[in-house]
Parts: sequence; C-alpha cells; structure tokens
Amino acid sequence: MKVSIVGSGYVGIVTGIGFAELNNEVIFIDIDKDKVEKINSAKPPLYEKGLEELMKKNRDKYVATSDYKRAIEYTDVTFICVGTPSKKDGSIDLKFIKSAAVEIGKALKDKGDFHVVVVKSTVVPGTTEDVIKPTIEEKSKKKSFEDFGLAVNPEFLREGNAIEDFFNPDRIVIGAKEEKSKKSLNELYSSFECPKFFTDIKTAEMIKYASNAFLATKISFANEIGNICKKLGIDAYDVFKGVGLDHRINPSFFRAGIGFGGSCFPKDVKALMAKAEEVGENPRLLKAVIEINEKQPLKLIELLKKHVSKLEGEKIGVLGLAFKPDTDDIRESRAIPIVETLIKEGAEIIAYDPKAMNNFAKIFPQLKYANSADEVIANSDAVLIVTEWEEFEKLNYKGKIVIDGRRVERAREAKIYEGVCW
Ligand code: UGA
Repeated sequence: MKVSIVGSGYVGIVTGIGFAELNNEVIFIDIDKDKVEKINSAKPPLYEKGLEELMKKNRDKYVATSDYKRAIEYTDVTFICVGTPSKKDGSIDLKFIKSAAVEIGKALKDKGDFHVVVVKSTVVPGTTEDVIKPTIEEKSKKKSFEDFGLAVNPEFLREGNAIEDFFNPDRIVIGAKEEKSKKSLNELYSSFECPKFFTDIKTAEMIKYASNAFLATKISFANEIGNICKKLGIDAYDVFKGVGLDHRINPSFFRAGIGFGGSCFPKDVKALMAKAEEVGENPRLLKAVIEINEKQPLKLIELLKKHVSKLEGEKIGVLGLAFKPDTDDIRESRAIPIVETLIKEGAEIIAYDPKAMNNFAKIFPQLKYANSADEVIANSDAVLIVTEWEEFEKLNYKGKIVIDGRRVERAREAKIYEGVCW
C-alpha cells in the first residue's frame, strides 16, 4: 500500500520504516526541514536501536517531504503521529494535532479518491471525533466516513525497543466506524499474527490511556511496596518475583526503583486525570500514582545522606541520565529531580551517560560530564545509579559508596551498597 506519515518523532519514523520493511511505499511529512533532509539521506532523525540499519536497507521505499498535498494525493492512508504534549495544568495540548488536521483537510480538498486518515498519536477520548473530524471536514469540504475514512490505531511502542515492538506487538487495536478504513488497516497489518481488536474510535483512544495508566500504576505500586520492604529489610525484587508467579499478576514491568520517566507515562496519566476531572470524576488512584512517582527519586538522596551526611562540597557521581537505557531521551528523567536536589545541596556533580549527556547538558550545563563511567567512579566520593545501562554491570565498584536506584547487580560489590527498595 501507499502510506503517508505525519510527524517523524520516534513513533512516526519507526511506524513508517516498519511499513516500508513490509513492502509498502512510505512518504514522511514533516514541517521540520532538517528532519526531512536527514530522512532523505537515510539518517535517523533520532536515536532508536536498529533504525539506521532498517532505513538504509529500505532506502528505495520511502521519501520525506514538507508537501502535504502531494504526499496525500499519492498515498492511500495517512497516519497522524505528531506529539501530544502537556499544557501547564497537565491537560493535553492539541496544537500539533490541530495543525496536522488542518493541513490534511486542505490537502484532501482536491483529492478524488477515498483516503483513510488514522490517528496514531495518543489523544484523550473524544479528540478524534470532536476535534480532528470537524477540522478535516471544514478544510476539505468533505464528509467523514463517506468521502474519507477516519480511524484510531494507538501505538504501544517503547522507546529504545520500538523497532522490535513494531514487528512483535502483543495486539493491534483499531478503532473504526466504516468498512473501508477497517479493510485498509486490516490489509496493512495482514502479516501480523497477534490479536487484532476492532472497536469504536473512542474506546480505542481510551485503551491507550488505560494501558499506560495501568503500567504506571504497576510501577508506583511496586515502589510503594518496595519502600515498605526497604524499611523492613526485605528485597522487593524477590517479593515481586514471588508475586509475579501468579499468572493473573504477571512478572514483567514490576521493577521497583526510582520511578518512571519518559515522554509518555507522566504526560498520559496527567492528561487522563485532567480529562477525568473535566467530566466530574476524581481520579484518586492516578493522583497517588503520580505522587509516589514524584517522591521516589528523592529516596535515593535520603539513602545517600545516611552515608554522606553533608552533601556540600562532596563529589557525587551520577551514572545514567536518560529516562531509561538505550535512549538519549531525558524527558521526565528521574535524573532531573535528583541532580536538581544535589545542586541545591551544594554537591559537586560528575555525571556520565552513554547517550544522553548532550541533551542533559542543554538544561544542566554547569555539571561536570565524564568521558566514561570509570571516570565517574574514580572521581567521586559516592556514586548514584540512576539509569540501568548494561555497561554499568561491568564496572569496578570496589571500595566505593554506591546508592542504586535501578538494581545493577555488580554494584553490590561496593564497600557500601544500598538499593532504593532492597
Ligand atoms: C511506554 C509504554 O511502555 C509503551 O507501551 C507506550 O507505547 C509508550 O509509553 C507510549 O505511550 O508512547 P516508554 O515510555 O518508551 O514506553 O518506556 P517504558 O519502557 O515503558 O519505561 C517507562 C519508564 O518506566 C522508564 O523510566 C522506566 O525506567 C520505568 N520502569 C519501567 C520502571 O521503573 N519499572 C519497570 O518495571 C518498568
């Protein structure tokens, strides 16, 4: 099929290159000229494991452009993959969604053939039918579900694992109203053997939020139990190994530590909370999930202070700045509140991350950044482990004070070792 993708963030680029690998023709539409240029030179616009290889391999199957009209004219299906950031009050900011809908509408105006628009961006329930649909209709002067199709197909890709997740999904969720859209999406996903769940548009939108909210809750639950474990001298990892053996609970995504970050969980849980309040519901559990998550990174500092009572002038090493391993993304990284607190307390910070230092230096230029993890260990009085990069399992921690927020087994050989929930 011929597919166009609006927005070349990690969801858009991975989805597009994934479809290209499955022998579809793909056009990326992005207003950022720099991204367009990069994609057209087969260079990933962001770091994602395995992406560069796949872009090179499928070079003849995709192009990038800023021209909506030509891209939409040429393709059968358009995926909206633009970002949905938070406003100051936590509610969803639809500015990119609205401008994509305007441009798609304008481009559809002169198109004769039926065209399917698919919303892959995470949008609160109601957005597709209440915001995107009327915008496209107004600009195109066409009728949705008759002249053009509109469907929702949420993504469940994890940053850093996005390529693998694209090809091996647990499920594909499709929210659609009319047959032509269902047929197009069925065809596009025909080679996937996982369950395909067809539902209505609003339900598909909610499935995405409920999934992320549940996973975030699972983590905050693990952390709350983990904090109790710590006080009682119990290893939370053994507890969740035992708990996870119940098939109703499942062992994965149950790692206690310093909480969740990234561009999705904090933002999506807050957007769902704002939506709940808008319709007169008090999301008490979700509020607690966020509250636990905001306090959790500070547990690392509390433990550090047990061993280094006054942080002023102390050399504190920070291993890991990305919100999780295998990415250079620092959005909502737990490293941010940790470093902020260390700065406030007057510590001298030396930090290292294999991929995220450049991004971190944009908001914290005042830190000392090391060339390697070894350099951090050699030059600090105490070390904090903030992201569980694989290479941190190979370091020599002997003789050091290490406070671990992410369970790096090797670090247990340190002179003094403390885990946040173990
Ligand atoms: C998350 C979801 O896992 C994806 O399914 C979803 O598509 C994506 O959000 C999205 O909405 O776009 P992502 O944010 O890339 O993916 O990262 P995760 O691997 O889920 O990790 C999120 C955070 O949770 C990280 O900071 C990680 O360290 C933390 N985490 C994860 C834990 O603290 N414990 C765990 O057991 C798992």
